[in-house]
Amino acid sequence: MLIKDLKARVIKNSRNENAIEVIVNKKYVASAPSGASTGMYEVKAFTKDVRFAVNYLNKYSVHYDFEEFKDLEVLDHLKSIIGGNPTIAVQYAVLKAMSKNKVYSFLNPKAKKLPVPLGNCIGGGAHTKIKASDIQEFLLIPKAKTFSQRANINRNVYEMIGKLSKAKSKTDEGAFILNQKNEDIFEFLTDLVYEFREHTGYKVNFGIDLAASQFFKKGKYYYKNSKQKVLSREKQINLVNDWIKEYNLGFVEDGLEENDFSGFAKLNKKTLICGDDLITTNLERLKKAIKLKSVNSMIIKPNQIGSLIETKKVVDYAHKHGIKTVISHRSGETMDFMIAHLAVAWNMSYIKTGIFGKERECKLKELVNIEREIC
Ligand code: PGA
Ligand code: ZN
Repeated sequence: MLIKDLKARVIKNSRNENAIEVIVNKKYVASAPSGASTGMYEVKAFTKDVRFAVNYLNKYSVHYDFEEFKDLEVLDHLKSIIGGNPTIAVQYAVLKAMSKNKVYSFLNPKAKKLPVPLGNCIGGGAHTKIKASDIQEFLLIPKAKTFSQRANINRNVYEMIGKLSKAKSKTDEGAFILNQKNEDIFEFLTDLVYEFREHTGYKVNFGIDLAASQFFKKGKYYYKNSKQKVLSREKQINLVNDWIKEYNLGFVEDGLEENDFSGFAKLNKKTLICGDDLITTNLERLKKAIKLKSVNSMIIKPNQIGSLIETKKVVDYAHKHGIKTVISHRSGETMDFMIAHLAVAWNMSYIKTGIFGKERECKLKELVNIEREIC
């Protein structure tokens, strides 16, 4: 497949920020999302700005016959010139063109497994400017046989939360904002999923993304809307382990700040202890996390590392070492469907892509369609 035509333009993401869209051969469209609670080890989203990247790509030509996934490496050099986001958008568009939009089956004709959707239902932290929980995301973990059942469960529980809490505002990712203390939200969710199970028979667990780097300063954790106020590292470790036990949390992402590999090792691995800002989809940081037994699961965000080739290496290395992978949207999302396909093609256990809002729902719909095709 030759790139006969490559165009880039500025679009708006779900947070109304500028994002980049790339169109290959007039038909294959891709874009990259942006984070708000970004890790300090992520590559730069844009080396200068989105317009510089758009102008650069509109003059860019590459004479290469793209046939298989590994050929995308030819585009990796773009990362240092225009940044991680435009590079990912170009690689997504070229991969879509190579596969005629059937990315998952092109990458893995034997793909059979759908990821479990982690549903962000209540949130706060860096994903809103109004008073909210310190915990960035409360995530539903639905139990059911099929992906479409799981996605429906998340939606139904989400709507129940909306009705019962009477929340008026939502975070960037479409989660309800409850101006309550962390423990009160845990109690509320515990009762709600119990009720849900009584009525429907479906079990739903839940977990959290603390995004703890966002409220960590000079060795301490600063809570704004919590029983806790300022916690030392030791106290933060104890608090997270207490929450895991008391509320039976099934998933805890970034429970500690992004440099505390040895602290992560002290978190209770009976649950999924997940690294996002800790690892930033970076192979060297993953190797360190494995060596120090920091995590048993990790977030995969291709634009954290700015290369699909690197992303695949990280996913393979994680699976080889028994680390579960969670592919994830960003808080400033676009309509791109790629993460849904990568989750299936690369056998990832979970996908974190929100519940509400067209940019989130389009990924869930894509997975429902893929399930119809392969199951
Ligand atoms: P983001 O954060 O705002 O960087 O996309 C989401 C997350 O922390 O998982
Ligand atoms: Zn996170």
